[in-house]
Order: sequence, then C-alpha cells, then structure tokens
Amino acid sequence: MNQPLRRIAWITDPHFDHAKLDVWQSWAAKLLELDPDAILITGDLSEGDDVAYQLRCLAETLNRPIHFVLGNHDFYGKSIASARRDLIALCRDVPQLTYLTDHPALPLNESTVLIGDDGWGDATEGNYADSNVRLNDFQLIDDFRNSNPDAWQSLLVAEGKAAADRVAEKLQNLPDEITQVLIATHVPPFREACWYEGKTTDDNWAPFFVCGQLGKALREAAERAPDRKHIVLCGHTHHDGVAKMADNLVVHTGFSRYGSLEIESMLTIEQDSLELSRPAIYFPK
Ligand SMILES: [Fe+2]
Ligand SMILES: [Fe+2]
Repeated sequence: MNQPLRRIAWITDPHFDHAKLDVWQSWAAKLLELDPDAILITGDLSEGDDVAYQLRCLAETLNRPIHFVLGNHDFYGKSIASARRDLIALCRDVPQLTYLTDHPALPLNESTVLIGDDGWGDATEGNYADSNVRLNDFQLIDDFRNSNPDAWQSLLVAEGKAAADRVAEKLQNLPDEITQVLIATHVPPFREACWYEGKTTDDNWAPFFVCGQLGKALREAAERAPDRKHIVLCGHTHHDGVAKMADNLVVHTGFSRYGSLEIESMLTIEQDSLELSRPAIYFPK
C-alpha cells in the first residue's frame, strides 16, 4: 500500500454555497495549518453543478487526497444518477478526488480501511404515512419532481436499499487482517444517531433523517465480525452526537451551521486505534 494516511480532517455538511469567500479562505487556511494527510467530507457540499466546482477548488487549494460522499443537497437541480455520473467523471479528471460511493474499500493502513456511501433518508424508520415533513428534495431532485408523490416512498426505500447493498458488499469482501473500518455516509443509519439539539429524532422526521436499511446492514456486519471495529461518520442533521450501537459499532454525527465552515474533527488513525478530536481552532457553537 501507499504511505499510511494517519491524520484525516473530517468535514460534514459544509454547504459551501452558503459561505462567503472570506469565510472559505480562513477555513482553508486553517485546514492547511492543521496539515492533515487527507480530507473526508460526508456530504452536502453544495448544490447541483457547484459541487464539482467546489471540489475542484478544494483539490487545487489543499492539494491532498479528498474523499467524499454526496448528501441530498448535492443532487439539487439534477437526477440522482446524473449527479453521480458527473462526479464520477470529475474524479477521473482530478486525481486528488475520490467519490467513495463509487469506490471499493480504501486502505488507510495495514489494518484499517475507509469505505463510504451517500446513504438516503429511506422512509423505513418513523412514520412516513403520517409525516408532514416535505423536504426540498421532492421539488429539487428530478427523480422526485418528475414522479407522482405516491411513488416517493418507494423511491426512498429503493435508494436506501441500494446504499445498504453497496456497503454490505464492501464489508463482506474485507480480509480478516482488517480490524478497523471507517464508514463515511451522509444520513445517520440509526435513529439513535439522528441528533437534533441533544435529542434524537421523532417519528415525523425519522423517515427522512435515518437510512434504516444501511443501519441494518451495519449491525449485521458488526455481528459477523465481532473483532473488527466499525466507526461510522455521518452528517445531515447538522447536530452532533455519538451513538454506541454495539461494542464494535459506533456512530459519530457531525455538527454544521449554514454560512460558517467547520472542521468537525481530526481523526488520528493507528494500526489498532482510531480517535476523533475536535481541533483547538474549532469554531465555538
Ligand atoms: Fe446538510
Ligand atoms: Fe443533508
């Protein structure tokens, strides 16, 4: 393998389209000062074509590996398939970029890999039928906008299933010597990891804020490999918290605020440990 990636800066939900240029510049300068080996972004970078523009700027400015998954906002103005296609093409063009959804497990050191998938609020948790939540996704992503609202639930379920299947396959293929897996995704895979102001989600929001099928796949994988640690990083709710789902399955949900840019955590990865810490320069809440 290449040089191990020991220090990774985790960013979630930056929503770059909401950040002013001076905010972006001081955030990028702080990242350069921290000098991580790689950057990991768990979705909601921006919207539509601006996602690719922002990733190009990051690759040019930071000039180091940038691993990412997409969040629901990244699909706005496009169909899910065309947004993914565009980003896959971009990654072919810009060597620093890796779209984890489209990528097999990526070794970080001899015992640790990084995998990732966009995930989706998949209507399998909470009460979809009685929920009054209507995300902008339904107006701004072609798949929903061009289909009858009666079909939305099955589209959500299908996206969640596809995410769960992709992750399950990546996990199944890991060799025994892999004892730590870092899993990057946008939508929390469990209700327990879906934070809002220190509480977890209710039945009204859960259908859109939890990727239940991915959660199930992760639980199964963790049960099948009790000696392997599974550390999940996600965003989407913009409120942070940690959920320990099993001794070997922990989910960290990251903080974000529109208009300000954060460095959620620095990850320090050794052969037998993976630790998160908020950098001293972390913006106060
Ligand atoms: Fe977000
Ligand atoms: Fe989101």
